[in-house]
Amino acid sequence: MESKEFLEKLEEKNRQALEGGGADRIRKQHESGKLTARERIDKLLDSGTFVEVDRFKAHRCTDFDMADQKIPGDGVVTGYGMVHGRQTFVFAQDFTVFGGSLSLSHAEKICKIMETAMKVGAPVIGLCDSGGARIQEGVMSLAGYADIFLRNVMASGAVPQITAIMGPSAGGAVYSPALTDWIFMVEETSYMFITGPEVIKAVTRETVTKEALGGAMAHNSVSGVAHFSAPDDQACLEKIRELMTFLPQNNMDDPPVLDSGDDPLRRDEGLRTVVPADPNKPYDIRDIIRSNADKGYFFEVHEHWARNIVVGFARLDGRSVGIVANQPAVMAGCLDINASVKGARFVRFCDAFNIPLIIYEDVPGFLPGTHQEHGGIIKHGAKLIYAFCEATVPRITLITRKAYGGAYCVMSSKHIRGDINIAYPTAEIAVMGAEGAVNIISRADIKKAQDPDAEKKRLIEDYREKFANPYKAAELGYIDDVIDPADTRPRLIQALRMLKTKRASNPPKKHGNIPL
Ligand code: HXC
Repeated sequence: MESKEFLEKLEEKNRQALEGGGADRIRKQHESGKLTARERIDKLLDSGTFVEVDRFKAHRCTDFDMADQKIPGDGVVTGYGMVHGRQTFVFAQDFTVFGGSLSLSHAEKICKIMETAMKVGAPVIGLCDSGGARIQEGVMSLAGYADIFLRNVMASGAVPQITAIMGPSAGGAVYSPALTDWIFMVEETSYMFITGPEVIKAVTRETVTKEALGGAMAHNSVSGVAHFSAPDDQACLEKIRELMTFLPQNNMDDPPVLDSGDDPLRRDEGLRTVVPADPNKPYDIRDIIRSNADKGYFFEVHEHWARNIVVGFARLDGRSVGIVANQPAVMAGCLDINASVKGARFVRFCDAFNIPLIIYEDVPGFLPGTHQEHGGIIKHGAKLIYAFCEATVPRITLITRKAYGGAYCVMSSKHIRGDINIAYPTAEIAVMGAEGAVNIISRADIKKAQDPDAEKKRLIEDYREKFANPYKAAELGYIDDVIDPADTRPRLIQALRMLKTKRASNPPKKHGNIPL
């Protein structure tokens, strides 16, 4: 074949692939507020870096006239490119081709990308916009899903996996995203559910909209399935790029160091007054997190769910750190079922990917109540303990105020291999708060006192003096130091630098048995 001829043929084939489901369907995609698969990839990756793989791969289905309907690429665009100059693998489902539905060929393309990503140690980003299993392919498409699930699990903890839901994701199709590390959702245009509103209506007679059932905010604030929500495709893709700046390429790599120019010795005297003198007064822990972070920047994860614990990424001295913080501004920072699950999952991600942890502690304990007990707070709270106990990345804990009871043990205490544990002078490290404690241990004395109220007040003061401070713990070496809050940033950075070469491991085993 002459070169002119083969180039024409190649051009024709490329044109077909780029057209996807055709101009009408692309218009419809735009009208519904969504970008196409290729437009999404262009915005996700550094400009001009995308290299497509399997552009011409097609389905092999012969039923339902499918043999005559082959579209190169088969509803998913796959390949590799750069995010901030670092190698990344990507697949984007193309809703204009059979509704982005998953055939066996479509699944094989995704699996190929995932396997190559694992081979070279690079993250995988999936942009989902799909009607689920390709109905015409029957069990072959189900096999395709199972093939992907297996690779999701094999990749878990080896390379970061990120999913953006940018359209429908229904039925068992939700489980590949659920097996990845991070789920982003686009408001108004994306939804995830196992069974949709019609099936729910038929089975339970309940009426619910798609958005309320499985829209971005339903999963960001109610179920906790999704970690991020974005107003549109563009914002979602930008947010993914931002998350990537905190992550290493794989579990053998360190996260990138990005010098912000912020002074590592910067002090903040304003921190001396952030924690209120009254132990029952709330404050926003994020004020302290931001003050310590390079340029005051905190990238919060799971912002709308279980807000009584705050998790996210920041940089200190240019290094990426994971933050886990009790939030006194919400439910007094109590640990409940959702907070335990949220914290545990975040800790395990950071530990798998060599991201040091900074823990801000102000926690009155686990949330009491029948709802929590019957919901399994015992096993869910145990997840957080388990996650901290097994974590071998550097861990620095700062107690700002309350460290009561079991929650003291849980939040990366010295006893569970916390590396550096420091406290503000306002810290109260005790089995419980003063009032509760006095009510229990001095009930009889209060009852028989001439003025029970005055006696109770005196006993509370006495308890506070004895226990509601950090000095007893410091005397025992459970706290390494009590610091001036103004020095927090330099102290955290000194600890991080010291721990840079930390090596720790757990006993050899097949795997532990985290209480699921
Ligand atoms: C084949 C599909 C398809 C599917 C959509 N299409 N879903 N083709 N298999 N699963 C095609 C449509 O025929 C249509 O083709 C085009 O995609 C766009 O679909 P529309 O219905 O016109 O779009 P819209 O109105 O936006 O509705 C989107 C939708 C709806 C809500 C996703 O298509 C839908 O309900 N699809 C079926 C969803 C589903 O039940 N999937 C199976 C889930 S179970 P034309 O040619 O007209 O453009 C599952 C099991 C996985 O996935 C198990 C894993 C363990």
